[in-house]
Amino acid sequence: MQDVYGLIDKLQETHALSKEEWVQVLESRNAAAASYLFEKARKIRETIYGKDVYIRGLIEISSYCKNNCYYCGIRRDNRNAERYRLMPEDILDCTDEGWRLGFRTFVLQGGEDGYYTDDLLCDLLGKIKSRHPRCAVTLSLGERGEASFRRLFEAGADRYLLRHETANSEHYAELHPSEQQLETRKACLAALKRIGYQVGSGFMVGSPGQTTSHLAEDLLYLKQLDPQMVGIGPFIPHHETPFGTYPAGSVELTVYLLGLIRLMLPHVLLPATTALSTLDPQGREKGILAGANVVMPNLSPAAVREKYSLYDNKLCTGEEAAESLQALRERVERIGYTVVVDRGDYR
Ligand code: 5AD
Repeated sequence: MQDVYGLIDKLQETHALSKEEWVQVLESRNAAAASYLFEKARKIRETIYGKDVYIRGLIEISSYCKNNCYYCGIRRDNRNAERYRLMPEDILDCTDEGWRLGFRTFVLQGGEDGYYTDDLLCDLLGKIKSRHPRCAVTLSLGERGEASFRRLFEAGADRYLLRHETANSEHYAELHPSEQQLETRKACLAALKRIGYQVGSGFMVGSPGQTTSHLAEDLLYLKQLDPQMVGIGPFIPHHETPFGTYPAGSVELTVYLLGLIRLMLPHVLLPATTALSTLDPQGREKGILAGANVVMPNLSPAAVREKYSLYDNKLCTGEEAAESLQALRERVERIGYTVVVDRGDYR
């Protein structure tokens, strides 16, 4: 058996590990091995993307959701969640403001809300693209049918984010009610790839019931899917959910996983997520220094930000707010990286 350094070297050379090796590289980690990993992760990210950090303007279009994920604050059964939905005109205003600020990618994210029909979204995509022809639009609207994904792609959507949440079906069933199935999620991701989207998947770190073996399966699944983007962040409890009293995931493990994912998928677009910054004021910096190259400030109208409450204390001000881009730029500069005005496509 190789030690943790040998496994990190192997991952750097072959971009793959076996399930047993993933478990070992996770379980035998320590601070020195993490520094060793992060240095390699930064080097590889810099050969592909230089020192650039890409920004995405996140527009949270709806807090209505028909799903009932046990971890999520906007789940259907949360009677105390304040619901809102943005109208197309509101969303267009957000993109205008975002473009002015320097955003060249807009992420439209929301709960699974039937209000946003294909017709509505196609019309909206056409308007966004005609007002800002050089922007990229990412959708993050949950599961839809393949025909719907196809229409949205043809209407101008470039990318789609849909985390798999966990690649183990028993664990998936611990996190979701039975009407939600891992197979459906995976079929959506396969369809999105087939259609030609730049696809993002990912999972929460430290979700209730998660084991190292589950994480190894997540990494194997990501390797097989070969997505252009991977979003991971620590689980954070929301008090109005069945998991309200569970402990939050670990920042240290999340950052270590970012480094591993960078070595496994060298070209991947990898955000330092809001959840990471929510748990640790230095989370964004730690993520970038571990190989992350994307940040996603909040571009939603200020009046609704508090209502898109996936977990407790979710940040939506300070450097997480699109209008504080200058402060974000300065913080990124301080660690030797540069926020760029660019679509930030996969290379
Ligand atoms: N903690 C951390 N992340 C969460 N998400 C949903 N609820 C939580 C939570 N309690 C993540 C899911 C989802 C993304 C939009 O937000 O992974 O895919």
